[in-house]
Amino acid sequence: MKILIFGYQGMLGHELVKVFKNNNEFTLWDRNEIDIADQKDVESKIGDLKPEVVINAAAYTTVDLAEGEGKEISYRVNGEAVGFLAEACKKNDSILIHYSSDYVFNGTNKDGYREDDQLDPINEYGKSKALGEKLLKEIGPEFYLIRPSWMFGASGKNFVETMLNLAEKNKEIRVVNDQYGKPTYARDLAERTKELLELKKPFGIYHLTNEGVCTWYEFAVKIFELAEVKIKVIPVTSAEFPTPAKRPAYSALINTKLPLSKSWQEALRDYLIETKKIRN
Ligand SMILES: NC(=O)c1ccc[n+]([C@@H]2O[C@H](COP(=O)([O-])OP(=O)(O)OC[C@H]3O[C@@H](n4cnc5c(N)ncnc54)[C@H](OP(=O)(O)O)[C@@H]3O)[C@@H](O)[C@H]2O)c1
Repeated sequence: MKILIFGYQGMLGHELVKVFKNNNEFTLWDRNEIDIADQKDVESKIGDLKPEVVINAAAYTTVDLAEGEGKEISYRVNGEAVGFLAEACKKNDSILIHYSSDYVFNGTNKDGYREDDQLDPINEYGKSKALGEKLLKEIGPEFYLIRPSWMFGASGKNFVETMLNLAEKNKEIRVVNDQYGKPTYARDLAERTKELLELKKPFGIYHLTNEGVCTWYEFAVKIFELAEVKIKVIPVTSAEFPTPAKRPAYSALINTKLPLSKSWQEALRDYLIETKKIRN
């Protein structure tokens, strides 16, 4: 299968490359090769290549900066550019796999969010991702729209590394205990993406996370337990830990369409083994 991956140097992109590399004719592009917000370039490059599948892991992911100086670029990359990719894929009969986020929901529903629930983002990043979703659906190439949440992976900044780095310099850490979500291991997400394609699942929206809901505090406690790091972790409220972007309080994504992935605790263990922080 002829596959084109955008954003191959990102956290998820790295895992997609590892997972898809066998038996596929591969093209990998990131910011150095193309700006996905450049419509002409997107159109002509996809038109020349004519891939059967386009996977878009490129995005503007700095959630707090998107509230200020990054706002415009986040709408361009997470919103309008998805429309450009959708147009080009439709024209060339390519399947488009695109990733959105749990942050398209407002986080007030304690039952969690199903694939077809109403979007109502509460920060600019979430709004830009929601715009991308809207354009993708309106333009309507054959697509898989996948929503992950709270991602951690071996390449790139993530919560696990942030916690372990903080633990090296501090005797105690304060972590938010009133935001709930489902941590997602980028490797598992890449593998589940491949499965979706190989099993020729119906096109549409999918929620792909590891299973189990926790708070950032509970996530941190588990990281230190598995990595055998002794540190005092203090639960705090979001109000005590203000950030430029508001976060949804309860953004657990419910997967009603596919077999469930392994638990986030198992996935975290796999990650710590993969990154050689623990043996098993
Ligand atoms: N990380 C999470 O916790 C999380 C949670 C839910 C959903 N998601 C979604 O999952 C997907 C993958 O996220 P990720 O964390 O792997 O992202 P990431 O690590 O930030 O990687 C994104 C990649 O896209 C590239 N890029 C940015 N703007 C571009 C442009 N205009 N043209 C071409 N390439 C561009 C980036 O290059 P530069 O580094 O040079 O900017 C980077 O290599 C995204 O759609 C994200 O919204 C992520």
